[in-house]
Formats: sequence, structure tokens, C-alpha cells
Amino acid sequence: MIIARTPAEYIELRKSHAGKSLGFAPTMGALHAGHESLLQKARMENEISVLSIFVNPTQFNDKKDFEKYPQTWDADLALAEKNGVDIIFAPTFESIYPDQYTYKIIESDFSKLLCGKDRPGHFDGVLTIVMKLFQIVQPTRAYFGEKDFQQLTLIQNMVKAFFLPVTIVPCPTLRESDGLAMSSRNVRLSNEERKKAPEIYRIINQKISATEAHHQLTQAGFGVDYCVDLLGRRFVAVRLGEVRLIDNVQI
Ligand code: PAJ
Repeated sequence: MIIARTPAEYIELRKSHAGKSLGFAPTMGALHAGHESLLQKARMENEISVLSIFVNPTQFNDKKDFEKYPQTWDADLALAEKNGVDIIFAPTFESIYPDQYTYKIIESDFSKLLCGKDRPGHFDGVLTIVMKLFQIVQPTRAYFGEKDFQQLTLIQNMVKAFFLPVTIVPCPTLRESDGLAMSSRNVRLSNEERKKAPEIYRIINQKISATEAHHQLTQAGFGVDYCVDLLGRRFVAVRLGEVRLIDNVQI
């Protein structure tokens, strides 16, 4: 396993794998079994696998959320090694934003709904970094979790819009045994909040209307940012203490 710290370093390494199929899982680190499932799929379906770890500041509209984002570098390396990752791309900010974020990818429709409404500019940051990563990494296939279904959809549509030569592979949401969707942010929950968090999945998964689910979430003590049905799925974002959690299920 080799670590590349700049686009130039990565491009040099990539040369020795020319012509091979490449599976890519972009992440912000603090890796858990959900990320691991992406890496396993990437390894199974391609000759080489690449993991990126970069806590992308441009997608955080809340500075505190960025500063508190968990970082577990040593554990991440061990998890990557265990899953046969060939290259880790962990760029510095300066190397991947030579333009200081003056150039952006902006989607003007779906990105303005749901999380885009509550987190202005969030998806501009996501799409811009993913575009940069695709240009550098040059993946054959890229793996994204359905946990972030709005993100997955926006990336699939960006690939179509710009004719990018990559296949996006959606991966199912991995959950804790009590139903809570795995997330790097879960470690920021207090014991009490952690006990309450599985209620999100239980409530949205019932055969009830989105309005009723919204009501039940509020009753259960969550601050509900949204709970809506769209594209055959139910999307939810809630605040629990200082932490914002999202989930979605097929309906
Ligand atoms: P991050 O939150 O680290 O997630 C990286 C990838 O792991 C995403 O595709 C996400 O959907 C997937 N993932 C997270 N939790 C999951 C779970 N419980 N089950 C299955 N997959 C899961 O999403 C991002 O980072 C960033 O926005 C990124 C795309 C890397 C751009 O900065």
C-alpha cells in the first residue's frame, strides 16, 4: 500500500498501473464498516483499488462541524491495509485547491433541496472535490454509499452531464445491529443520544406518511430538518444534540 500526498505523486504512481481497471472509494476518513463495504466491492470488481481520505473544507457550511470532524488516521491505514487497498490518495488542501476554490461545479436544481437547503453551498463543495478527484484518480468505477442518496444521485447526474468516463456503483447502507446507519459522526453522540439514535430508522421505516413520521420524530425529541418522500425514497435529516444525522429508505 502506497500513500500519495499530492496529485503529482498520485499521477506518477498511476503510471505503473496503466491499462488496469481501477476501483475508487472517495472518503473523508474516520472509516467504519460502511466505508469498508465500498473498499471490498472496489477490490473485488477491479484490478487495483484506490481510497482517498480528505476532509474537504469546502463542503462544510458550518466551521465547527469541520473542526470537530473525527480524524483517525492510524486506524484508517490499518483498515485500508486489511482491505487490500493499493493506493491511498490523501492530498493536502494546497495541492488539490491550487485555485483556492475559485472554480466550482454548481448544480442548480436537486442540490438546492433537502440537505442543500439546510447546508447552503454543501453540494457545490462535494461536486467540486469529486470532480477534482475523478480527474486525478482516473477511476474505471467509483463507489458511493446510498447512505448519502442525494449525494449519490447528484454525482451520477454530474457524470452524465460532463460525459465523465467512470461508472458509478451505488452501495447499500450499512447499519448497526440496532438499525442506526453507520456514520463517522456517530462517535460524536453522547451515550444517551446514541441510545436514542436508532429511533430515526425505526420511525421512517414504518408504513406511515412522511408527515406522520416527521411528527413522531419531533415527539421522540429530534430536531427535524426535513422528512420528505421524493424519488420513491423517504429522506430524513435530524439534529440530536450537536450532531446532524441523515438517513433514507426506499418506500
Ligand atoms: P464520507 O462521509 O466519508 O463517505 C464516503 C463514502 O462512504 C460515501 O459514498 C458514503 O455514502 C459512504 N458511506 C458512509 N456511510 C455509509 C454507510 N453506513 N453505508 C454505506 N456507505 C456509507 O461522502 C463523503 O465522505 C464526502 O462527501 C465525499 C464524497 C468523500 C466528498 O468529500
